[in-house]
Amino acid sequence: MSTQPVHKRRVVSGMRPTGQLHLGNYHGALVNWLDLQARHECFFFVADWHALTTGYEDTAAFKANCREVVIDWLGAGLDPAACTIFVQSRVPEHAELHLILSMVTPVSWLERVPTYKDQMEQLKDKDLSTYGFLGYPLLQSADILMYRPQYVPVGEDQVAHVEITREIARRFNKVCGREPDSVARVEGAVKRLGAADAAQYADLRRQYQEHGNTEALARARALVEAGSGLSAEDRERLLGDLAGGGRTILPEPEALLTRSPKVPGLDGRKMSKSYDNTIRLREDPASVERKLKAMQTDPARVRRSDPGDPEKCPVWDLHKIYSSQDTQAWVQKGCRSAGIGCLECKKPLIDSVLAELAPIRERARAYEADPGRVAEILDAGCKRARAAARETMQDVRAAVGLDY
Ligand code: TRP
Ligand code: SF4
Repeated sequence: MSTQPVHKRRVVSGMRPTGQLHLGNYHGALVNWLDLQARHECFFFVADWHALTTGYEDTAAFKANCREVVIDWLGAGLDPAACTIFVQSRVPEHAELHLILSMVTPVSWLERVPTYKDQMEQLKDKDLSTYGFLGYPLLQSADILMYRPQYVPVGEDQVAHVEITREIARRFNKVCGREPDSVARVEGAVKRLGAADAAQYADLRRQYQEHGNTEALARARALVEAGSGLSAEDRERLLGDLAGGGRTILPEPEALLTRSPKVPGLDGRKMSKSYDNTIRLREDPASVERKLKAMQTDPARVRRSDPGDPEKCPVWDLHKIYSSQDTQAWVQKGCRSAGIGCLECKKPLIDSVLAELAPIRERARAYEADPGRVAEILDAGCKRARAAARETMQDVRAAVGLDY
């Protein structure tokens, strides 16, 4: 897609500290992170402040959960020599950038983020009518913009957050990225539109810049083209102003949509800790086997002699992730003809899952046994992240005139 030469791009992504990770987290995000760390300069962090936005009432497990997540990352193969692993709250610059960005962020942008209302609905038992929860996508924007990355690998549910991040970057650059005299020059040109047109121009510009109204942009452009009192230079200046002529202090990142397979949980719903239907990455093999043997199959296949339909069976979704074409063909044929039983069908799957988890579990065990090593990795990662964050904050502070 990109025509730029293949060089290391910056990548940033975060994960909430939900405790020990499971196969859904692994195939949904980590596999992709492993691929990215080999090709780019990656910053991966534990989003502990994000966990606080919804879980502020019960934080007893935060510290342990954070540690477990990092151990699973390392177990899965994130390599501290190849990427930067850190904890969000240990780079307090994220909070400062969040605060500064909040000054230029219209509240309506946050209110219309789709996850805002969805989550409020879904987490009815929690009081989410807080300032922090409304601002959560902006905190995410700060997490991202801090490292000026090209890419942000996220799942489908997070794409809207990267989108608002782009809008905020654009707005910050526009509002705060201007040279002082360019503001005066633009204002002079606006005046030369004449009072009525100048007011309309300002209104249209706001509609476009704050609400993304592209029709307003087109009308503002037409106004500029038609403005008889304008010099050619004025016209160029205003067209540049509309396009967002500010200096790029915070570049707009791109969402890198993770092509993640659907990972079903043991009950057939999406695998999720809150459904208690997971297989953990460090789960012991006997338990993995027991759980998979008991996993939900096509509900219509009651007896061994009943033919089944893989499309209605979550075990088939796992075969799609784990099994070769030959095995998949064997499942399709055997299931539909009642030629194989469900336990037989699960056997190669159990073998594949166990084979995948064995090295992860082994690496994770080594880190479990050496907490000092994990602490060192995090110390070094936080230090590296902070150095990068400080660079960005110097420019950001200067842009808002607070570089004392
Ligand atoms: N909001 C993300 C989630 O709930 C986690 C997250 C926080 C994140 N900051 C981020 C992801 C920055 C990518 C980039 O999964
Ligand atoms: Fe599912 Fe396999 Fe049983 Fe068919 S044979 S219902 S695919 S577990």
